[in-house]
Amino acid sequence: MKHSFYGKVYAQGYEIGTDASATVGFYLEQWKRLGGKSPVLEPMCGTGLNLIPFLEAGAVCDGLDASEHMLEVCRKKLHELNLTCNLYHQNLEAMELRQRYAFIMIPDGSFGHISDKAVAAQCLKRLQAHLLPDGWLVFDVRPPAFMSVFGEHGAVDHELTDYPDGSTVFTTGFWQHLEDGKVIRKWNKMERFVDERLVETEVFDYYERLYELVELQSILTTTGFEEIHVTKAYEFNKPPEGKDGIVFCCRHA
Ligand SMILES: C[S@@+](CC[C@H](N)C(=O)[O-])C[C@H]1O[C@@H](n2cnc3c(N)ncnc32)[C@H](O)[C@@H]1O
Repeated sequence: MKHSFYGKVYAQGYEIGTDASATVGFYLEQWKRLGGKSPVLEPMCGTGLNLIPFLEAGAVCDGLDASEHMLEVCRKKLHELNLTCNLYHQNLEAMELRQRYAFIMIPDGSFGHISDKAVAAQCLKRLQAHLLPDGWLVFDVRPPAFMSVFGEHGAVDHELTDYPDGSTVFTTGFWQHLEDGKVIRKWNKMERFVDERLVETEVFDYYERLYELVELQSILTTTGFEEIHVTKAYEFNKPPEGKDGIVFCCRHA
């Protein structure tokens, strides 16, 4: 499986212009609805956009991510806010932690980075193995209809972002639709300029699988999750339609 590795330049600009309030509000609501129990784990936690509000709401949390650069941003924010939690630098597909959790969440469609279905099944097994009895896994993905929101196959686009440290990052992205439109790839070249001089270049090779609802439902059932509720991202009790993100709430037997 190709990894979407989040490098240093991308991680440092990740939160610029991001409003996570709808996602965070929805996941906090699900956590409370499903018992509001700790400990909570967020694999693929990134810079902590979700993890930190959970800590502030009183949950005892751990985070895990494949990118040391994303974790570094998260660690800095935790320090500034005087919050504590364990942050593990691991890949989800090989996740091995000492503890089990009452609630595991993967918001923001991040599970789609697991672009190989066999690896997705392996990840769901790792997630189940880390749940306490009656613990809940809540995560969301985007469906194939979401492809129309992305750039067309072969399209090139550009972005210019001013970073808080005064540098400017110019990104050139090349879109590809793979596996009959089920996997999106965006190959990004990020060039960082300081005082009009190029100081750093980084590649961010983004992969996301767009999952059919039934496809994941079947893997979840095979994995042994007993109760599986499906809802629209991020509105509880509304069925997902068309391009809507799909949230799965799954209980460990
Ligand atoms: C959309 S971003 C994270 C969003 C996150 N919810 C936040 O609040 O910042 C997706 C994250 O998944 C991580 N990731 C991608 N593939 C992974 C894998 N196989 N195992 C663990 N983390 C992974 C990336 O490093 C990145 O931080």
